[in-house]
Amino acid sequence: MLAIIGGSGLAQLSNLEVSRRQVVRTPYGEPSGALTFGKIAGHAVVFLARHGYGHTIPPHEVNYRANVWALHAQGVQNVLAIAAVGGIRHDLAPGALVVPDQIIDYTHDRAGTFFTLTDRGVHHIDFTLPYCQTLRAACLKAAQQAGEKALDGGVYAATQGPRLESAAEINRLERDGADMVGMTGMPEAALAREIGLCYATIAVVVNYAAGRGSSRQGIDMHALAAVSQQAMGRVRLILEPLVMSDGG
Ligand code: HPA
Repeated sequence: MLAIIGGSGLAQLSNLEVSRRQVVRTPYGEPSGALTFGKIAGHAVVFLARHGYGHTIPPHEVNYRANVWALHAQGVQNVLAIAAVGGIRHDLAPGALVVPDQIIDYTHDRAGTFFTLTDRGVHHIDFTLPYCQTLRAACLKAAQQAGEKALDGGVYAATQGPRLESAAEINRLERDGADMVGMTGMPEAALAREIGLCYATIAVVVNYAAGRGSSRQGIDMHALAAVSQQAMGRVRLILEPLVMSDGG
């Protein structure tokens, strides 16, 4: 079964035929909300709003471990994360959709592993390719089938938030090789790998990163919200062919 973790701008899926909601308790505390089970185009999916259904949980306070654990406990194998990002690379303008292939983690003070001493002992996962290649390919194919352009590959920089970055910080991220910046990609991706889930992201560029393009003097939050609403509608279109493929 495919799980969809909805990010900012995607707290619910209008094309999801809801069958039930389930509160899942985990050894790590409460997930962001009840899991919503249902069907898209006749295929079973489970949906979770990362920031809560009322968008009340900021990126640094999301209980990533509880969310990932809850999905795994429900028999999910594939997890598609939807993430709003700022575009750093020049072709990542607001409205662009990207399926990133790499991550740099700048977050701190987040519970980022299931392998603590009290849990499962010392363990190191391979994270050379942080995203599941099979699900990435399925997302790209589904986008093509939906007639939506999605760029193949890019480096996602995960920042701590909740504030946006300074222009100098974005320059630094670019020097590091980052193409886009968001606040929720980590530790979510690493936790999914630790627990054996196939995890990929569709990143939705909702603004130029600080100091770039139209954000040279600041980020226009109203424009960001409008772009997000429009682009998330396009993401919903991609989900239908995705759940009908093996990716679902
Ligand atoms: N920076 C960090 N996170 C974001 C941004 C950004 O510019 N836009 C959307 N999420």
